[in-house]
Amino acid sequence: MRPFVTLTFAQSLDGCIAARAGQPTKISGAESAAFTHQLRAEHDAVLVGVGTVISDDPRLTVRYAHGSNPRPVVLDSRLRIPLTSKLLAAPALPAVILTTSSGSQQLQLLIESVGAHVHRIAANDDGHVDLHAALDHLSSLGIRRLMVEGGAMVIAAFLQSELVDRLIVTVAPVLLGGLHALEFSPRSSKLPKLRNVVHRTLGDDIVIEAETRW
Ligand SMILES: NC(=O)c1ccc[n+]([C@@H]2O[C@H](COP(=O)([O-])OP(=O)(O)OC[C@H]3O[C@@H](n4cnc5c(N)ncnc54)[C@H](OP(=O)(O)O)[C@@H]3O)[C@@H](O)[C@H]2O)c1
Repeated sequence: MRPFVTLTFAQSLDGCIAARAGQPTKISGAESAAFTHQLRAEHDAVLVGVGTVISDDPRLTVRYAHGSNPRPVVLDSRLRIPLTSKLLAAPALPAVILTTSSGSQQLQLLIESVGAHVHRIAANDDGHVDLHAALDHLSSLGIRRLMVEGGAMVIAAFLQSELVDRLIVTVAPVLLGGLHALEFSPRSSKLPKLRNVVHRTLGDDIVIEAETRW
């Protein structure tokens, strides 16, 4: 059985997750950042795309809440992850890098020499890591609950593949005019209906949580 997938991101009032593509942008406040860290602690692994690693250099750890660090997972079809990224250079747990046959052996050896694990997964028609195969693989590693933290292409890919079970979106009272959360997403007819919607206010932000129905 594939892992249960929680898709989560922070967006501005105008639906943006960054001021522009590739630019790290602080959107949510301290209270919702702590909530995100609590969510990380409730998952076995946290997954991002290599685009987010290159632009934001996240640690994906639990620092503003109590609990264990989840296993960091990166979708990286061509092994573009920088060796200097915090996930490789200063890991709390060894990162799992999911790549395809396009990632070179030499890069794999370099990445593994710093302690991360590289796993080769089937590619989809676009040459990216196939998400169904990726989730099956993560399941075989014992990952039951997966948190997907973005960025825009990865959000779209999980929605497109109908692989989201729960959606948690933090909406912050700022306007960005930048990279939209659903920039690359499928047509509205392909998006899930939301049910059992709950929302809470954390500082100045509103966090909306819902189950998906496909
Ligand atoms: N506000 C938030 O909550 C939040 C959270 C995270 C990120 N962000 C923002 O999002 C932006 C980065 O987003 P992004 O769209 O550029 O990058 P991304 O979604 O983080 O990563 C996209 C890359 O992942 C790789 N990938 C591998 N398999 C894939 C698959 N099946 N589907 C999609 N991608 C796959 C692809 O590179 P290869 O082809 O080389 O594998 C692709 O270019 C940054 O500006 C960051 O600040 C915001």
